[in-house]
Amino acid sequence: MDKLSFKKSILWTVLGCCLWGSLAQAGSQEKSAEVDAREIIWVTPSEKSALLGEMRGFLEATQKILEASLADDMEAIETAARAVGIKMMKATPKALHDKLPSGFTDIGPKAHMGFESIADEAVGMGDREVVLEHLAALQKTCNGCHSIYRFEVK
Ligand code: HEC
Repeated sequence: MDKLSFKKSILWTVLGCCLWGSLAQAGSQEKSAEVDAREIIWVTPSEKSALLGEMRGFLEATQKILEASLADDMEAIETAARAVGIKMMKATPKALHDKLPSGFTDIGPKAHMGFESIADEAVGMGDREVVLEHLAALQKTCNGCHSIYRFEVK
């Protein structure tokens, strides 16, 4: 082997190692993204259905608040927000409440109270900018909880 082709073969070996290394790393990153690390909350089928029903109520209220804000319709904002406020919070059966982890029952009421404060703003000053600020902050609460917990049926 002459000097040049020896250098070339070293270069190819190094390049090959780099490529192999980065492929292997990409593979392991993909794998870790697949693992769902959120804490499981074990529930019965009917509890799951009730909890997810509440969640869809949250999403629906969020959409209505956005739409009503664009239309500057404070009454519609209040109606949508109250529906998922304290009233819904109090409707959670005690047996279900007792089996939820304390982290969950700490964050949950914050979401309901966030909607109450949107309703209060709508009937109070009626400033849609403030309503939207409240909503943006409230959605951080949604995301915060979603990143920690998931439901599984037992
Ligand atoms: C206290 C915790 C918590 C809060 C706060 C919370 N969620 Fe959830 N949400 C969950 C969990 C847990 C699930 C189920 C996720 C899973 O099992 O993968 C869920 C599921 C959902 C779903 C899916 C419903 C379905 O039928 O599958 C929607 C939509 C949703 N949440 C919307 C919201 C919105 C909007 C907010 C805020 C206004 C919110 N959630 C606040 C915990 C929370």
